[in-house]
Amino acid sequence: MLFQLTSEQEMVRLMVRDFAKKELEPFSAKRDEKETFPAEVIKKMGGLGLMGMMIPPEYGGSGAGAVSYSLALQEIAYACASTAVVMSVSNLSTEPILHFASEEQKQKYLVPLATGRMLGAFAVTEPDAGSDPGSMRTRAETRSDHYLINGRKIFITNGSHADVIVVIARTDSQASNRGLSAFIVEKGTPGLIIGKREEKLGLRASDTVELVFDDCRVPRKNLIGREGQGFKIAMTALDSGRIGIASQSLGIARACLDEAVSYAQSRRQFGRVIGAFQAIQWMVADMATEIEAAYLLTLHAADRKDLGESFTREASMAKLFASELANRAAYHALQIHGGYGYTKDYKVERLYRDARVTTIYEGTSEIQRLVIARDYLGK
Ligand code: CAA
Repeated sequence: MLFQLTSEQEMVRLMVRDFAKKELEPFSAKRDEKETFPAEVIKKMGGLGLMGMMIPPEYGGSGAGAVSYSLALQEIAYACASTAVVMSVSNLSTEPILHFASEEQKQKYLVPLATGRMLGAFAVTEPDAGSDPGSMRTRAETRSDHYLINGRKIFITNGSHADVIVVIARTDSQASNRGLSAFIVEKGTPGLIIGKREEKLGLRASDTVELVFDDCRVPRKNLIGREGQGFKIAMTALDSGRIGIASQSLGIARACLDEAVSYAQSRRQFGRVIGAFQAIQWMVADMATEIEAAYLLTLHAADRKDLGESFTREASMAKLFASELANRAAYHALQIHGGYGYTKDYKVERLYRDARVTTIYEGTSEIQRLVIARDYLGK
């Protein structure tokens, strides 16, 4: 169990904190308001090695590992939760390629993804297949040298900006979960159409779109692994993705705590700063304690991943606890701000909106509980 960061991990944290403070923090409110995708910042983050943190150096990545990745993502989310989800999903899209793709696919896609020259997305969810991806209907039919993909994916983060999309589609209509396969679909592939763009409550600077596949012609060589491996590939990627969302949640929660503390130390009522009242102190104490617990859960899951141990249960625990905490922290931070917190003049208004989705995407809290409970009780 890891309690002390290595000097390298500490360095990553400080470097990203400094970067986020200069490059993200001053612009995040405006980006949220205007729904501006952080394309230029993402390129800079690529240059710093933040877009391929799990990718080893031979494929252009920093190979920094999951603990460093979590620390970096926490810092990015602290400054801008929208940018954090862009980073998280692009890093997530590298996992199926890293662990299941051929050498040729790795050479072709990992290097540009790792350096931020390409952005990645991950397309699983469909209108009738959310928590239950095994029921997806998007199908990929074999033709001579290619697959024809038809169907719709929704809520795809980075969807309209991504150069590389890992798409899960059905290759066998009889085989439920085992009938799914994973494909690399490049931007501009004929038949890939960017559909409805979602207008969201939070994370408004991130890109969330529908993807329509209309006789989308994907070369056979873009199949990842073997036919039928798609569900396993998606689940493996989501295990890592959940460490990412736990880290994003932690960044948001920390920002809530800092905003709450600073407001409580300056706002005066009844002749004293409100931080002098026990009602406020207890909210701050609970937030701080839960953040510490979520931090340890998250780094524990990340550490297991770095050690090559199984981390499915630990990632679900971290994601469940950290995302629920982010919502509680946002609620209390806004409560401490009173009426001011409900206005756009204060950062907590955005944090409150940004926190909300963390208990939903990459597996709802209910799905995380199911994963954890199955680990103890069986299916
Ligand atoms: N790693 C590897 N393999 C796994 C696995 C894991 N974590 N979890 C399950 N599997 C394997 C099982 O071993 C099983 O293999 P066999 O067929 O060989 O026996 C197979 O997958 C089927 O497993 P289950 O029977 O457990 O599958 P299930 O249908 O009961 O579903 C579930 C399990 C955990 C509920 C899963 O469906 C799930 O995680 N649902 C949530 C989906 C989700 O998170 N969606 C988010 C979409 S992405 C997103 O939000 C991205 C974004 O843009 C931000």
